[in-house]
This record gives sequence, C-alpha cells and structure tokens, in this order.
Amino acid sequence: MSNMVETKELIFEYSGNEDERVTAVKKLSLSVKKGEFVAVIGHNGSGKSTLAKLINGILVPSGGKVFVDSMDTVNAENIWNIRQKAGMVFQNPDNQIVATIVEEDVAFGPENLGIKPEEIRERVDDALNAVGMYEFRGKPPHLLSGGQKQRIAIAGVLAMKPECIIFDEPTAMLDPSGRKEVMEAILRLNKEGITIIHITHFMDEAVNAHRVVVMEDGNIILEGNPKEVFSKVDKLKAIGLDVPQVTLLSNDLNKEGIKLSKDILTVDEMVNELCQLL
Ligand SMILES: Nc1ncnc2c1ncn2[C@@H]1O[C@H](COP(=O)(O)OP(=O)(O)OP(=O)(O)O)[C@@H](O)[C@H]1O
Ligand SMILES: [Mg+2]
Repeated sequence: MSNMVETKELIFEYSGNEDERVTAVKKLSLSVKKGEFVAVIGHNGSGKSTLAKLINGILVPSGGKVFVDSMDTVNAENIWNIRQKAGMVFQNPDNQIVATIVEEDVAFGPENLGIKPEEIRERVDDALNAVGMYEFRGKPPHLLSGGQKQRIAIAGVLAMKPECIIFDEPTAMLDPSGRKEVMEAILRLNKEGITIIHITHFMDEAVNAHRVVVMEDGNIILEGNPKEVFSKVDKLKAIGLDVPQVTLLSNDLNKEGIKLSKDILTVDEMVNELCQLL
C-alpha cells in the first residue's frame, strides 16, 4: 500500500523576534498509509496542530519534507490538490461554518472547486447522508447542537471528495453525546476507506485507531497499535498523558492480585475479562 501522508525529518520553526522563535516540529518522520486511521496524542504544545497544518499545506516546512499522496507541499502549484485530497476539520465548528443554511455551507467547498451544479447537489446530499445530517439540510446552522455543527463541518470537507481527513481535536468543545456522534461519523468514514489522522486528548477516542502516535516536544516519542502504546502506562504518565480509565483500572486490579489482561482498552473488554473470573 502506498503512503497517503509522509513526512521526512520535518522541521518547523515559528518565526518572530530572536527570543520568540519556537521550533515546534523537530525532525519528525511519519508515514500514514492509505486507509489507515492514526490517532495523534501529546500534551499541550507538543506540536500536534503544527504538524496538522504542515500536512495540509497551511504551513510550509522550515526543513525536511511533507508529501501528500506523493505531492510535495513546498510546491505552490500542488497546494489546491493537496487541500482537496487532505481536508482538515478543526476544534471549533463555529469557525468553520460560513453559510446561513446547512446545505449552502456544505456546497461552499465544491463551488470553489468549480464543480458543476448538478454534481454539487449530489455531493452535498451524499456528504450530509454520510454524517447523518441530511434531514437538517434546510436548517440554519446556528440552531444546531455542537455535535451537529461539527458533523456539518465534516460534510463540508467530504463534499470536496478527500481521500484523507485530518481532525484537530474535533470533539474538544463538544458534550459527551456530541463527541459520540462525531466519533461515530469518523469511524464510519474510515470504514469507507478515507484515511484518518485524528489529533485528540481523549484516550478513549485514540483506542479506536489502527495506530497511536505520541508526540512530545515536536517529535514522536512512542508509536504502535493502541494496546502497545497504552500498555506503557508509566511512560505516558511521565509525559503527563492519561491512559484509558479501564486500562488504569485493570492495572490497579492486577496489583491487587486480580489477574486480568494488562492491555484492556475498552469497557466491553473489561466486562468480558471480569466475567471470565466468575
Ligand atoms: N502562531 C504561533 N507563533 C509562535 N509559536 C507558536 C504558534 N503556534 C504555536 N506555537 C508554539 O509551537 C509549539 C507547538 O504548538 P502546537 O499548537 O502545534 O501544539 P499542540 O500540540 O497542538 O498543542 P495543544 O494541545 O495545546 O493544541 C508550542 O510551543 C506553541 O507555543
Ligand atoms: Mg493543538
């Protein structure tokens, strides 16, 4: 399988006055395969959003390379193809919604791509269906809940027919039910073949990924499948990250002599393990 996204020894420095310069990404190399679902975790300021913006071509590398489907983000003529291929969804849905009617908002991207009106209609309907928001197509976005608005923002990206979507903490401003709606939408898109890069600080969201990448001080310090990464409880705690609550609980129970598998990641797995003790 070929790579959807590839960074090679990527460096990014925010310029400013001499003493304000911050190197936010430091020789970071990451490959994301087509169809893969990668979660990126790391505490505040570790460089996650900077990485996302470098992949999307919003920022240009200070050193090293970023390729999106083999297109180098440094070449200005690639930028529209890159943004169409790798869409981005941000934290605050209110900052991403531009129109006063849901379906007009979703049509905004394809209109800018110069797509024919009949095809725009079809793309908008498909995108709204994919996130379960078709019945809200005629509504003003400001009447929707946070989770619904975020799903509209996702539909807006989907209408551009991306192969990859980079989510930068898309659930951070949502209530638990909104988070669940958005997470389900993301999982469904990945099942349909869209490559997902999901930046999150919710560990229970990261356990859904094929691979978890842990960032610290501008680089990757740990990566692997969720079981591999979250079994490193002490290492994660040392850099101020949580592990899923059930993983902590199974660790604690093990210390108390209750023999459970140490790599439990979900409540369902915990229930199964506990039932086997009876
Ligand atoms: N526009 C900017 N100008 C200067 N420095 C910046 C800018 N944006 C971010 N930084 C700095 O770059 C580093 C990485 O920031 P970044 O936003 O990429 O981290 P993050 O992992 O996304 O953090 P968070 O979890 O808070 O979203 C931090 O030290 C931050 O202060
Ligand atoms: Mg960020």
